[in-house]
Amino acid sequence: MAGRTLVVYASKYGTTEKYARIIADALGGDSLEVAKAGTAGLGGYDRIIVGSPVFAGQGSGKVKKFLEKNRKQLAAKETGAYICCMAQGEDSKGQLVRAYPEWFLKTARNTEVLGGEILLSKLKGLHKLIIVKMMKQEKDESAFSEENARKFAGRFI
Ligand SMILES: Cc1cc2nc3c(=O)[nH]c(=O)nc-3n(C[C@H](O)[C@H](O)[C@H](O)COP(=O)(O)O)c2cc1C
Repeated sequence: MAGRTLVVYASKYGTTEKYARIIADALGGDSLEVAKAGTAGLGGYDRIIVGSPVFAGQGSGKVKKFLEKNRKQLAAKETGAYICCMAQGEDSKGQLVRAYPEWFLKTARNTEVLGGEILLSKLKGLHKLIIVKMMKQEKDESAFSEENARKFAGRFI
C-alpha cells in the first residue's frame, strides 16, 4: 500500500523530533511538528506516523488532540505510532498505551517505544527542578538509537 509518508511529532527537547526525521528519511517522506501538521492538512499523504515524548507517564496532549481532530481522515490511511521515553520493558508499554487513544492503536500498522534522552543542559524550569533537584540526576542520560528508529521505519515497507 502506502505512498507518501508524513511523520507528525511533538518534542520538547528534540529527541522525538530527531526520530521523526530519521523515520521520514528512511521512508522518503516528510516530518512536521504537530502544530504545523494541523494546519497543513494530511491530504497529500497515504501514511501517517505519529511520535510523542513522555513526561510524567503521559504522552503529548497536542498529539492526542491532533488525532481526535483528524480521526476521519486517518481512517483512510496507513498509520503508525511511537513514543520517545526513558522507560523500558513493561513500563514503557503501559506508557505507549496511555499516550494514544485506543482506536488509534487498534488500527496502527506498527507501534514502537524508542529510547529518550535527558540532557541536563537542555532542561527548562520545572523539568530542571524535578530532574536535578528532586531526582538528583548528575549526568546526561541517553537511550537514543538511530538503529531502532530505522528498524521501526523498515517495518512499514
Ligand atoms: C521532567 C521529565 C519527566 C519525564 N518523565 C518520564 C516518564 O514518566 N517516563 C519516561 O519513560 N520518561 C520520562 N522522561 C524522559 C523523556 O521522555 C525524554 O527526555 C524524552 O527524550 C523527551 O522527548 P523530547 O526530547 O522529544 O522532548 C522525563 C523527562 C523529563 C525531563
